[in-house]
Amino acid sequence: MTGRFFDWNGSAIPFREGETIAAALTGAGILHLGDDSVGSEARYFCGIGACQNCLVRVNGAIREACLTRAVAGLSVACVERRDHD
Ligand code: FES
Repeated sequence: MTGRFFDWNGSAIPFREGETIAAALTGAGILHLGDDSVGSEARYFCGIGACQNCLVRVNGAIREACLTRAVAGLSVACVERRDHD
């Protein structure tokens, strides 16, 4: 496999230079980023870091996918929202 990829829950996600993790996931057709604290589906929403709907775990740290640039080799995964609260 060539090009730029990061790992999303075990799948290789391609991205373009400068894209955020949220943009790359959306481009790959991945809209469900986890479940929120009441069990509803968490999705990319505001795109400016305000709603916290897009929280993901990036190399173990919780980050907003809409503000975090994709970098080759990152490990990105869903966040258990109960862990975050
Ligand atoms: S989509 Fe709202 S904080 Fe990322």
